[in-house]
Amino acid sequence: MATESIAYTTRPLDDDTWADFAALVEANNGVWGGCWCMGFHPEGFGQERSVSRNRDVKREHVRRGTAHQILVYDGGEAVGWCQYGPPAELPNIKNPKAYDKDLAELPDWRIGCIFTGKGHRRQGVARAAVAGALAAIQEAGGGLVEAYPEQVEGRKPQQGAYFHTGPEDLFTEFGFERDRKIAKWRWVMKVRLPSGDPPADS
Ligand SMILES: CC(C)(COP(=O)(O)OP(=O)(O)OC[C@H]1O[C@@H](n2cnc3c(N)ncnc32)[C@H](O)[C@@H]1OP(=O)(O)O)[C@@H](O)C(=O)NCCC(=O)NCCS
Repeated sequence: MATESIAYTTRPLDDDTWADFAALVEANNGVWGGCWCMGFHPEGFGQERSVSRNRDVKREHVRRGTAHQILVYDGGEAVGWCQYGPPAELPNIKNPKAYDKDLAELPDWRIGCIFTGKGHRRQGVARAAVAGALAAIQEAGGGLVEAYPEQVEGRKPQQGAYFHTGPEDLFTEFGFERDRKIAKWRWVMKVRLPSGDPPADS
C-alpha cells in the first residue's frame, strides 16, 4: 500500500550526492552483493565482478556525467533510486536477443534499475524515483522512454529483488504501455514524453 504521507525529495546522483548513494549501497551489501548499479552500463559487472571495481567504475561514470540516476531522500538519507539514460549509456538490458528480434525503433531513453533500501519498501520510494527520473527526462527534452518491467498480474507474489527493473504496475501509473514481451514475465513498455521546458513567465 502506498504511503502518500511521506514527503520524499529527489536529487540527481552527482559529485555532491555520491556519498549519499554510496551509503545506501553499502547499507544494502553493495546491492546484489556488489553490483553498485553497474549491470546496465557498458562495462556490466566486469569480468572479475569485483565489488571495488564496480564501485570505482560507477564513481568514474558519475564524475564524467555518464550515469543518470535520481536519488530519493527521506530527510537527509538517500533511500532509493531510479537509473535512466540513453541506450548508449545503458546498453546491457536483459534478454537482448528477444529485444532485438522485433526492434523497430531505439528509444531516446531507457529506465535501468530501480532500487529501494530494505526497511523503506512499499512506501512509495520507487514511485517517487520514477517520477523524478521522468521529470528529469522531460527537462532534458523528453522523447521516447522505455522500461523493461516485470509483470505482476497472473503470478505468485514476488520478492522485491525480482523487480529490479520495476513492477509493471508502477509504470502503468505513469502512462507506459506494453509494447512487446521479451521474457516469460518481462515486457518492453513505452511512453512518449513531451519536452518539459518551464512555461514562459506571463
Ligand atoms: C521493486 C522495488 C524497487 C519497489 O520499490 P518500492 O519503493 O517498495 O515501491 P513503491 O512503494 O514505490 O511501490 C509502487 C508500486 O509498485 C508496485 N510494487 C512495488 N513493490 C511490489 C512488489 N514487491 N510486488 C508487486 N508490486 C509491487 C505496486 O503497484 C506499488 O504500488 P502500491 O504499493 O500502491 O501497491 C523494491 O522492492 C526493490 O528495490 N527491490 C529490489 C530491486 C533490486 O534489487 N534492485 C537493484 C538492482 S541493481
